[in-house]
Amino acid sequence: MKNNKNSNYIKIFDTTLRDGEQAPGFSMTTPEKVRLAKQLEKLGVDVIEAGFPAASPDDFKAVELIAQSLKTTEVCGLARAMESDIQTTWNAIKDAKKPRIHTFIGTSPLHMDFKLKKTKEQILEMTKNAVEFAKSLCERVDFSPEDAGRSDKQFLVEVIEVAITAGADCINIPDTVGYTQPQEFGELIAYLIKNVKNSDKAIFSTHCHNDLGLATANSLAGVLAGARQIECTINGAGERAGNAALEEVVMNLSVRPDFFNFKHNIETKEIFATSKLLTLLTGQKVQANKAIVGKNAFAHESGIHQHGMLANRETYEIMTPESVGVKSTEMILGKHSGRAALAAHFARLNYEFTKEEITEIFLKFKILADNKKDITDEDLHILALGENNEKRLEWHLKSYTVSNGSDKLAEASVTIKNSETGETKTAIKTGDGMVDAGYKCIDEFFGKMGELTHFGIDAVTTGIDDQAIVNLRIQTESGKIQSAKAGNTDIVKASLEAYLDAVQELKKHSQ
Ligand code: KIV
Ligand code: ZN
Repeated sequence: MKNNKNSNYIKIFDTTLRDGEQAPGFSMTTPEKVRLAKQLEKLGVDVIEAGFPAASPDDFKAVELIAQSLKTTEVCGLARAMESDIQTTWNAIKDAKKPRIHTFIGTSPLHMDFKLKKTKEQILEMTKNAVEFAKSLCERVDFSPEDAGRSDKQFLVEVIEVAITAGADCINIPDTVGYTQPQEFGELIAYLIKNVKNSDKAIFSTHCHNDLGLATANSLAGVLAGARQIECTINGAGERAGNAALEEVVMNLSVRPDFFNFKHNIETKEIFATSKLLTLLTGQKVQANKAIVGKNAFAHESGIHQHGMLANRETYEIMTPESVGVKSTEMILGKHSGRAALAAHFARLNYEFTKEEITEIFLKFKILADNKKDITDEDLHILALGENNEKRLEWHLKSYTVSNGSDKLAEASVTIKNSETGETKTAIKTGDGMVDAGYKCIDEFFGKMGELTHFGIDAVTTGIDDQAIVNLRIQTESGKIQSAKAGNTDIVKASLEAYLDAVQELKKHSQ
């Protein structure tokens, strides 16, 4: 009996790397995805949905690497209800300690009639075949009736019964378009558990989108009604308005045990570090007043609040910042720190570098430490990001000079070097500002790959000597969007490195 409506353990299924990564501006490189997956494992999530392997060879590779890298967490891959997707997904996850296949098919009239153009009978048949095939390959299988929130309840019962008979262990109920209200979603879960004849053979799960700002409330209503798994994402990343935010559902369970009385496996002190890592990897900031992880979530500005806080924190604080790992920026290394200390801190942050790699990064660390007094975890993430980007790219920035003035055109000279052959190329261009001139040099090397549709610079922490992350997106004529990022204390250098990265990725895929 799996549907432990009576068990009080809530499984946390993180889909940041799948539903989250699908959202515009959230794409990550393979090493970045592996890095985030390791942090999610440290956070204690039960399942990581690592991607959609059939979507592209890059997605496949990333899921495969994550499956091979994680030690304890279940690694799941998403597949449409078709044999080829399911086989590809299995090929990607089969090396995981605990592999899981998540297959789905639309069940609402809109999805069946307009997207899939299938009858109810055909959907039932496809569900049976997909789940049976997935189960023949993999011990753990999740099934989702997509757009369940707008599906006919009686038909949902039929589809779910077929899925469970075919071997699904978990039935995930997606409110794909974030349409349902908490009471309604709770009632839907309760109805399904009550009316699906074999519901005791699977656990029920929630997957709620946030189009009306109800994703967290709907997920919690789902568990109150008997669901025992929540699909969610860090910072609420996901399609359109996103998914239920992991930090919100988990902290509701943790802060209100008197109300929920559920257990989970999340190490809440890792929440803030995970949120920051996602921001750093994607350049997508969370709003200042975002619950749990926003900049203001634990800030007390008004005199009355400050007075109350000084008298007793609990007057205005229902959880401590420490409980979710918020701490003031910590200086962890400085210019006198040695290679061993650097290596130890990278190991603590779950980066695996060889001795030779550490020797190379150490040189960059020394330059950084000369320019910047306090080296923090964020700085180390940026160093690692740069190192991984350099390893990935055929050409990297060797040197550059830029000049500009109020009465002259900006000019840039950029030299790039081939990582394998050592060959160098130089271009000199003028432009509308130093970055534009530099980008024209890079266009000269590779040809113009597309239009720059987004360019953003963010300081990682605070202070004039801090590192900035440059985030950009290029859109090609055919509509392909490539994003890239790079960090440095020098904004021009970070801008050139990010552009060089995006252009080379586009070039690679156009060949
Ligand atoms: O929102 C959705 O319906 C999904 C499914 C693939 C689970 O993301
Ligand atoms: Zn979704």
